[in-house]
Amino acid sequence: MAPRKLAAGNWKMNGNLAALAEIDVLVAAYPAPGCEILICPPALLIHPAKARADDVIAIGGQDCHDQASGAHTGDIAAAQLRDAGATYVILGHSERRAGHGETDATVAAKATAAHAAGLVAIICLGETEAQRDAGETLDVIAAQLHGSIPAGATAANTVIAYEPVWAIGTGRTPTTDQIAEVHALMRDRLEGKVADAAEVRLLYGGSVKPGNASEIFAIPHVDGALVGGASLKAADFEPIIAAL
Ligand code: G3P
Repeated sequence: MAPRKLAAGNWKMNGNLAALAEIDVLVAAYPAPGCEILICPPALLIHPAKARADDVIAIGGQDCHDQASGAHTGDIAAAQLRDAGATYVILGHSERRAGHGETDATVAAKATAAHAAGLVAIICLGETEAQRDAGETLDVIAAQLHGSIPAGATAANTVIAYEPVWAIGTGRTPTTDQIAEVHALMRDRLEGKVADAAEVRLLYGGSVKPGNASEIFAIPHVDGALVGGASLKAADFEPIIAAL
């Protein structure tokens, strides 16, 4: 069975209670969406977002701790995300790898915690511009994939997102050939690591917009998108959903 396509929005540290009206617009526009729609708002908004998502749109977190509970001031456990209504969590985003020192091992531990809590982990991978310029992209992605995906990962509990760091929020995107090359590599490297590797959904993220979504979604092994800026307004996100 081909994996169900996924249009995922990462609101990052944007939005407030009033911004949840954007979810109402999406629910009204897609009462029976042809793909899975996911919004990952800031953690404080997960519970009220879930109440408005009406089971049409999935809600996710943007990070979780690798421990189930305990003395970790300011952190959020995977089970707490689940309790608030989340079914997904983004892990290993480059903004957390760079800003919070997260390593592949950290990400794998968090993914294990997410799986234990019943969350689907969206594990992010991506090269910097310097790494691409140095011809290291495939090695970087292969190493991140190997180190960030924990034992026990399956197509049901894990999604991989390729997000080139230099394409995030910049309006720049890789060529279709460059995306195709990385996605083919990811599919290949999942074999042997995940039993149902062919079914794992592979997302592209980095300056996905209404104007380039169709072209990106036509690339082999692209099963959806992880969208930042263009997910904040339903008017921008809707054409991306429609392109899937
Ligand atoms: O996680 C999504 C993100 O990093 C891409 O952001 O704003 O380039 O779509 P943006």
